[in-house]
Amino acid sequence: MSKRTARLETILDRNPRDPSSLITVLQDIQKEFRYLPVEVLSDAAQALNVPLSKIFSASTFYKAFSLTPRGETIIRICKGTACHIKGADLLLEQLESALNIRAGETSSDLKFTVEVVNCVGACAMAPVMMVNNKYHGHVRVDRAVRLAKKG
Ligand code: FES
Repeated sequence: MSKRTARLETILDRNPRDPSSLITVLQDIQKEFRYLPVEVLSDAAQALNVPLSKIFSASTFYKAFSLTPRGETIIRICKGTACHIKGADLLLEQLESALNIRAGETSSDLKFTVEVVNCVGACAMAPVMMVNNKYHGHVRVDRAVRLAKKG
């Protein structure tokens, strides 16, 4: 049994092996692998007796799921109006160049994913950057890379 299969088996063992477990199993796979690997989805489809096409539509419908690998550290730069005015573009440029990836991409060592988001509701702290769901406000360009690398 491959390592991947063993990890999936552990997830499946926690749930009834039928279509009612689909979303829970997908959530657990996303948590375990940080994305939804196609081979794992295919094995899950068989185990849960759900067509692979249905798994793909659920995987693309929910924003929490990703079919491509994601980094250990997810960095989100808010580009809502307040953050834009306070220099979010510069923050993003600085991060893209320091991490050598563009917004929406994951670094090849799977350490970082950079995303652009709309207003996260903390405009008074603009510009806002999130590192693994932790908010950082009034972020200056020189601090952005340090925060990102700290994780
Ligand atoms: S615009 Fe960035 S938090 Fe509102």
